[in-house]
Amino acid sequence: MRFSLLTVVVSIAGITMADSSNTNSTTLFVSSYAGNITSLSLSPSHNGGYSLNEISATNGCAESPSWLTLDYKSKALYCLDEGLTNLNGSLSSFTINPDGSLRPVAKATTISGPVSGAIYGAMRSRESGKKGLALAHYTGSAVSAWEIAEKSPPSSLINIEDLPYTLSKPGAVPDRQDAPHEHEAIVDPTGQYVLVPDLGADLVRVFNYGDDLKLKALDPLGTVPGYGPRHAVFYNPSGKCGEDEATFLYVVGELSNNITGYTVKYLPNNSGLSFSQIYSSTTYGPKPVPAGNAAAEVALSPDNRFLVVSNRNNSDYTLPNPDPKNSTKVMSDSLSSFALGKDGSLTFVEVAPSGGSYPRHFSMNKVGNLVAVGLQYGSAVVVLARDVLTGKIGCQVAWYPIEGQVTCVRWNEPVFDGTNSQPI
Ligand SMILES: *[C@@H]1O[C@H](CO)[C@@H](O)[C@H](O)[C@H]1NC(C)=O
Ligand SMILES: *[C@@H]1O[C@H](CO)[C@@H](O)[C@H](O)[C@H]1NC(C)=O
Ligand SMILES: *[C@@H]1O[C@H](CO)[C@@H](O)[C@H](O)[C@H]1NC(C)=O
Ligand SMILES: *[C@@H]1O[C@H](CO)[C@@H](O)[C@H](O)[C@H]1NC(C)=O
Ligand SMILES: *[C@@H]1O[C@H](CO)[C@@H](O)[C@H](O)[C@H]1NC(C)=O
Ligand SMILES: *[C@@H]1O[C@H](CO)[C@@H](O)[C@H](O)[C@H]1NC(C)=O
Repeated sequence: MRFSLLTVVVSIAGITMADSSNTNSTTLFVSSYAGNITSLSLSPSHNGGYSLNEISATNGCAESPSWLTLDYKSKALYCLDEGLTNLNGSLSSFTINPDGSLRPVAKATTISGPVSGAIYGAMRSRESGKKGLALAHYTGSAVSAWEIAEKSPPSSLINIEDLPYTLSKPGAVPDRQDAPHEHEAIVDPTGQYVLVPDLGADLVRVFNYGDDLKLKALDPLGTVPGYGPRHAVFYNPSGKCGEDEATFLYVVGELSNNITGYTVKYLPNNSGLSFSQIYSSTTYGPKPVPAGNAAAEVALSPDNRFLVVSNRNNSDYTLPNPDPKNSTKVMSDSLSSFALGKDGSLTFVEVAPSGGSYPRHFSMNKVGNLVAVGLQYGSAVVVLARDVLTGKIGCQVAWYPIEGQVTCVRWNEPVFDGTNSQPI
């Protein structure tokens, strides 16, 4: 008697839980220079498509939100404010509420121009319970390190150190390489190293760190002059990470519009990485690169089989306006896809429309069948279908206008994209 009553209660609880999540909707977080982080809900619609709807928005990362770093397990989102109208930038943390809205927790002033951040130390400093966040500062010509507590999001964000860099003379593209311009922070697959592509200095900076999370600069990877390293991803063909596993790094140059692949070897005792170039092509593969093109984001598909890179400022395509009230055609830039070879080579798949202008950032969902694109000048997020088997980008399945210049779009899902040692 008592047993069956308990069973009924449990099954009712089960039904209730299933009901509250049976819409299959997913949350997307979108940052815009206009000042907001917007939480959008992507839901399948009755006609087989999808719809995007606004859940809420917060200006807790204002003035100029430039980047979002998700700590999925901790239900925390970190946002960088590039500080375009200020002397300084800022770093904010948020709790992700069950409905996808964000609750501001802490905010700290940073040196100027943070544009990317990566969580590190969670694997190596488990005993000390510390987690770090490494930031790349574009205008600030620096890397900064922050302590974020094991319990995320922390109520205080502690600056560990600021590492400023200088150039003795401008680089090969003087108007863009007037100074070091740190553009992204990523973590290697084993979690031991933080890498920072520097667009101004033609370097990918390499750091290790100790229990105190202080970053120690090691020998960097140098590119050819004028390459303009912007973003990078790691690739383990085996799907397993480790010092003895085959490991590759792909570096995308914004100024050269190239992708360069390197074999990565781990030096003994966490003392650094050595790189040897094994691959080079433009982001257009065999096709000519359009004048004015500026490559931006790069990510691996979550099945570890494809590399996708975004191309801005080429207006390769003219698309129907997704706004039914607007008949003006939309200029679209592009996304390029390559198949990853076990030997680290890339095979060109296609160039496809990005859904609008200036795809500064994009991210794939955890299945890899949808790509959300943040259109900086298109002032919108589009969601594109993606064929997981062929790697080809399909049609646009959802569109949502966002005020201002869109800078980053993240799925609230654990996703592996080649920039993080653990799914984030
Ligand atoms: C930010 O979001 C709030 C709340 O939705 C909205 O009222 C405001 O217009 C938004 N501001 C911008 C610049 O998007
Ligand atoms: C704010 O910017 C100024 C000028 O670059 C810098 O000296 C100062 O350290 C920054 N403040 C913080 C908290 O980073
Ligand atoms: C690595 O560190 C261990 C322990 O400190 C030491 O015994 C070993 O000689 C080091 N190996 C190298 C190649 O430096
Ligand atoms: C870019 O890649 C192409 C094709 O591999 C190569 O010819 C060119 O030298 C590269 N340019 C730079 C700046 O890396
Ligand atoms: C876009 O491309 C054109 C050439 O087609 C170039 O003149 C312009 O500077 C580029 N704009 C940006 C923002 O990169
Ligand atoms: C219509 O679309 C064009 C192209 O995207 C855009 O420039 C324009 O501002 C839009 N007009 C309105 C009223 O939304």
